[in-house]
Amino acid sequence: MKEYIVHHEWKVIEDGFHPDYNRVSESLFSLGNGHTGQRANFEEKYSGDSLPGNYVAGVYYPDKTLVGWWKNGYPEYFAKILNAANWIGIRVEIEGEELDLATARVHAFRRELDMKDALLTRSFTAELPSGKQVEVLARRFLSMKDKALGAIRYNIKSLNFSAPVKITSFIDGDVKNEDSNYDEKFWMELEKKASDQEAYLLMETKKSGFHVCHGIGTRLLKNGKNLSAAGPKVDREKYLANTFVVNLQEGEELLIEKFAAINSSLYISRNELMSETEKSVQKAMAAGFDQLFAEHSKCWEEKWEAADIRIEGDVAAQQGIRFNIFQLMQTYTGDDERLNIGPKGFTGEKYGGVTYWDTEAYCLPFFLGTAPQRVAQNLLIYRHKHLQKAIENAQKLGFENGAALYPMVTINGEECHNEWEITFEEIHRNGAIAYAIYNYINYTGDREYLAPYGFEVLLALSRFWAQRVNWSDVKQAYVILGVTGPNEYENNVNNNFHTNNMAVWTLKYTLEVIDYLKKEQPYLWEELVNKWKFNEVQETTNWKEIIENMYFPYDKELDIYLQQDGFLDKEIIPAAHLNPTERPINQHWSWDRILRSCYIKQADTLQSLYWFQEDYDTETLRRHFDFYEPITVHESSLSSCIHAILAARIGREEKAYEMYLRTARLDLDDYNNDTEDGLHITSMGGTWMAFVEAFGGIRVVNGQLHLNPFLPKSWKGYAFRLNFRDSHLEISMANELTIINHHPGTLTLSIWGEEHILNGNHKLEVEIKQTL
Ligand code: BGC
Repeated sequence: MKEYIVHHEWKVIEDGFHPDYNRVSESLFSLGNGHTGQRANFEEKYSGDSLPGNYVAGVYYPDKTLVGWWKNGYPEYFAKILNAANWIGIRVEIEGEELDLATARVHAFRRELDMKDALLTRSFTAELPSGKQVEVLARRFLSMKDKALGAIRYNIKSLNFSAPVKITSFIDGDVKNEDSNYDEKFWMELEKKASDQEAYLLMETKKSGFHVCHGIGTRLLKNGKNLSAAGPKVDREKYLANTFVVNLQEGEELLIEKFAAINSSLYISRNELMSETEKSVQKAMAAGFDQLFAEHSKCWEEKWEAADIRIEGDVAAQQGIRFNIFQLMQTYTGDDERLNIGPKGFTGEKYGGVTYWDTEAYCLPFFLGTAPQRVAQNLLIYRHKHLQKAIENAQKLGFENGAALYPMVTINGEECHNEWEITFEEIHRNGAIAYAIYNYINYTGDREYLAPYGFEVLLALSRFWAQRVNWSDVKQAYVILGVTGPNEYENNVNNNFHTNNMAVWTLKYTLEVIDYLKKEQPYLWEELVNKWKFNEVQETTNWKEIIENMYFPYDKELDIYLQQDGFLDKEIIPAAHLNPTERPINQHWSWDRILRSCYIKQADTLQSLYWFQEDYDTETLRRHFDFYEPITVHESSLSSCIHAILAARIGREEKAYEMYLRTARLDLDDYNNDTEDGLHITSMGGTWMAFVEAFGGIRVVNGQLHLNPFLPKSWKGYAFRLNFRDSHLEISMANELTIINHHPGTLTLSIWGEEHILNGNHKLEVEIKQTL
């Protein structure tokens, strides 16, 4: 754990320069606007340890698969969101000596990310090896209003010298991914041009053929006067610069304003990319930093209005939840159904920046609760668009009749993960995709979504499960063999409870959906039956047979479902007995040792119990929690959120709080020692769930909103916003519970088990009846 980030309600602050943690800070202070994003690299040169990172949504490279031993069915490539051109660069040379914080003596360094309006500020004084001292204040943002734009305001002051200063403002497209499989560069230059204050670089990605144009416009001011450039510099491939030379007297300050436009062929055709980018840069220069920032800030104000969570009496928890919400809002804006949420968002290269089951299992609830309905719907449509590819993926593995296996990792619908135990075996992801459809409809009431979208996906998933099971004569039941559950610390197990449960649940839910469509949408239903050659009688009879005869591993003595058939053969030793110096075990133990151990990476059986908690009484949940949680090492960022919610549900306040803090501050405090790779963006959706469901006690049962809130002892109060159906609710807990409905419609909801009617634009005050 690292605890160098200053606690603050609205800001992330690094006070004093921590070069050893520079990669961690670069992740923590990342910026994004759903279309582009970047790590918090410095504008000026930095020769110390750094992971340069600029990313453009949806622009990827299919990096040829690299494996030791090829297995049939492996994908040809691993899609990678590319590291794109660095447009922030501003080199500062004073009499030929370059400002570089790795070689200068740095004082009064402070980096601040204001989450209220997504502004990154950095200030410091630096003494160069020659003794020359400068004071710098750098600010930048990526516009939430005009998603193609970014802006920098960079002030530099001479503290003790009078000398010529050369400023080079550049775009550098000669970049590569640190995780490139063959050390290749993924970009080709197509065109570039520059004038005194502007520069444009149009590039194409190799193989995938995306076009991206970066444009910059730079101006320099001294004493409020514009300075002219020393002429554009176009001296190497994929690189362009505008340079300015100015004599700076002691005490004088230079102001550099740099505007960037980043456009991709996802939105603008190749032929127009240059001219459109030029227009954007010139418009941005005419508007200026302050106006662009004001527009950007307004968008953020609206976002926070819908999504903020306030915690009184606990700054660490407050900063944690806002950081998570902020990063989610920076990553996905839901205006394009071709985009999704990579586990690292725009903050690093690991996981390729592509889609996992994380989106459905952990991110969807956040967008359901805080954004317009179409945002969550777009996440579902993304998978619907990939249905054909998921069917092809299943075919490749030997399935037929329209069965679909969605990829474990994808960017365009094709599988690109290539470890057999995950690619072929972690099939519970199909369950998460089905559950997301249910979750969306249960939450929004939008049953229209079922035909054709929801049903088509559910049918293909059910067809998959029906073929993936096999009958066991020994067990006289259906079994699912050779899988990996959410716990990736054991592979190729038989009858993983969660997987078997998701298979049965998907079949049941699809049957329910069929009943509904036959009754409510008979014409559409006919069309769907024909389109998908659905042999209703035969297929549904088979599904019912599986539902009734599925095997679930269970231990009578412990009275719990087992994670998999052989789980109790393992030596069960609580994780508390592990040597703290050997944790996280995935960074200290051999993989072999991990696989044979009882340690669980993340909620597995408990994931099912969490999703279907209404099906179990509290005692059953408690028994499972008490067996599984002590042997769970929470080495996936996705773990603590589920445990926080279940702990609250079974009345364990302290555990709920501990787990909540761990998920909320996972990156801020670098719990798993891996924030340097990028932030755990998808787990941030889990943090939101942990807050709203553990403390707010929110559940939607049969389409009705239920609240069972409690206030952790160390907090004075909290308040959060929630969109539910037509209502915009503001829910506050302190000495009493108040719920304001900021919408004219009436809402019937259940609070601590009692039904209440909340009229539109009214406030409900409820005496606190129950705490944990
Ligand atoms: C987790 C998976 C998750 C992936 C991406 C892994 O460490 O075990 O459940 O999908 O990370 O976040």
